[in-house]
Amino acid sequence: MSDPTTIRRLYGRRQGHKLRVGQQALVEDLLPQIAVPETGPLDAVTLFGDDRPIELEIGFGRGEHLAGQAAMRPDHGIIGCEPFLDGVVGLLLHVEQQDLRNVRIHMNDALEVLERLPDASLSRAYLLHPDPWPKARHAKRRFMNRGPIDLLAAKLKPGAEFRFGTDHPIYCRWAMMIMGQSPQFDWLAERPSDFLVRPDDWPETRYEAKARRIGHEVWYFRYRRR
Ligand SMILES: C[S@@+](CC[C@H](N)C(=O)[O-])C[C@H]1O[C@@H](n2cnc3c(N)ncnc32)[C@H](O)[C@@H]1O
Repeated sequence: MSDPTTIRRLYGRRQGHKLRVGQQALVEDLLPQIAVPETGPLDAVTLFGDDRPIELEIGFGRGEHLAGQAAMRPDHGIIGCEPFLDGVVGLLLHVEQQDLRNVRIHMNDALEVLERLPDASLSRAYLLHPDPWPKARHAKRRFMNRGPIDLLAAKLKPGAEFRFGTDHPIYCRWAMMIMGQSPQFDWLAERPSDFLVRPDDWPETRYEAKARRIGHEVWYFRYRRR
């Protein structure tokens, strides 16, 4: 398991173009209301005011999938982690437009949230189209690695689902190796359609739509925590 005192490097962009006035207002007004508190325990009661099931999305991009899940299950609480400001603004727009009350945002590394969650507290986790870091010498930067997956396993309840999606063949092969070596998870696929066809309750992400447009195949993995 990773050491919380270690200073980690987060790879990737934090900010793109300058925010428009309305976007800036969302960051200043709405984000503080639904941001994950910087210290203290991260249980359902602290975050959502009651003992509801909680879920985590790692690297939610612009937030389409997270907002879709939140709208589908208003009685669940969904924590999203994303260090990229434009992405956070995307999710804030969904939260505002759909009046989603069950979303909390950590604008930083998902590992920080995972470390603070109680063990066996998550009902679901999502990792959709993580940055592929395709060069072998960058493999350690991939979120899908032994340390993060062990940490995630500790935070999922027995029977909880971990969903992972990618269109990247190198990452797909790598992920199947990491997850295949993990004694904490069972892969739920029984037939090819289980990983070739997006389940109905799996809203499409921006990256996935882009991958489809350029003719890529997309793979959908569902694992159950033992
Ligand atoms: C390729 S994008 C995919 C975004 C989205 N899931 C989608 O499918 O459209 C990967 C995202 O993961 C975010 N990310 C990378 N490392 C992360 C980390 N350690 N914690 C949280 N988010 C992370 C990046 O900022 C980026 O927005």
